[in-house]
Amino acid sequence: MTRGAARENPGPSTLAARAVSVRFEGLTAVDRISLELQRGEVLGLIGPNGAGKTTLVNVLTGFQVPSEGTIWVVDADSTGWQPHRFARAGVIRTFQNGRLFKEFTVRENLEVAAIGVGLSARKARTRAAEVLDWLGLTARADERTDALSYGDERRVGIARALAAMPRWVLLDEPAAGLNDVECDQLMRTVAAIPERFGCGVLLIEHNMRVVMTVCHRIQVIDFGKTIAAGPPAAIQSDPQVIRAYLGVREQRR
Ligand SMILES: Nc1ncnc2c1ncn2[C@@H]1O[C@H](COP(=O)(O)OP(=O)(O)O)[C@@H](O)[C@H]1O
Ligand SMILES: [Mg+2]
Repeated sequence: MTRGAARENPGPSTLAARAVSVRFEGLTAVDRISLELQRGEVLGLIGPNGAGKTTLVNVLTGFQVPSEGTIWVVDADSTGWQPHRFARAGVIRTFQNGRLFKEFTVRENLEVAAIGVGLSARKARTRAAEVLDWLGLTARADERTDALSYGDERRVGIARALAAMPRWVLLDEPAAGLNDVECDQLMRTVAAIPERFGCGVLLIEHNMRVVMTVCHRIQVIDFGKTIAAGPPAAIQSDPQVIRAYLGVREQRR
């Protein structure tokens, strides 16, 4: 291994983006962003609407090929992998708008996800039952997902991601549309994921109060660039973050 390659290898529990850019026609959505997500931590990814958060998640999970830069799953350069290969390597994401299989039951949604990453039907069933139990969704297991309340639908989205045996799970605005009580409840669950499932969590969430409570580290992006990264206390008092995001967010929406 060359010394350059050794430097690129980010470590045994890391999903990483290295100087990643994504250009759409006439627009740089992600502009040389580097990010590392370790198993066992909750990393908050915040920034105004249009900052590039979802595009970065797309790149980290194979749904978007970067224009520049590389993605690393532990020591494998995974730039250009298809989403299913990321998933089998333990990189699992949720979507901003759910994307459950509506005509399937809750349990079936989870089992399909587990089978999709290579579990046998029997193991998928066991895994689905475990995850549903942990999330308090066992009573909903045999309901079709199009019959669920909105709050349950959001939780099933997370349940399905957890059924797919993640080593890193990327949650794109999982609490969007929930009221404060539901949001707090969901965030307590998110905070407990690393210890229960041994994975890292990347959390995109706009509610600053919950982000500051749940995340071990926070990375702030604006116009496709990282403008700050660090522990919550440092982010909260960073003048550039306050100027770019916290203080003016309402006006920019
Ligand atoms: N497929 C696409 N084609 C063109 N522009 C896109 C595409 N996806 C996202 N964008 C643009 O890239 C920017 C970042 O979008 P996105 O990553 O969705 O931001 P965020 O998730 O932070 O709100 C926005 O200006 C958005 O309009
Ligand atoms: Mg988004």
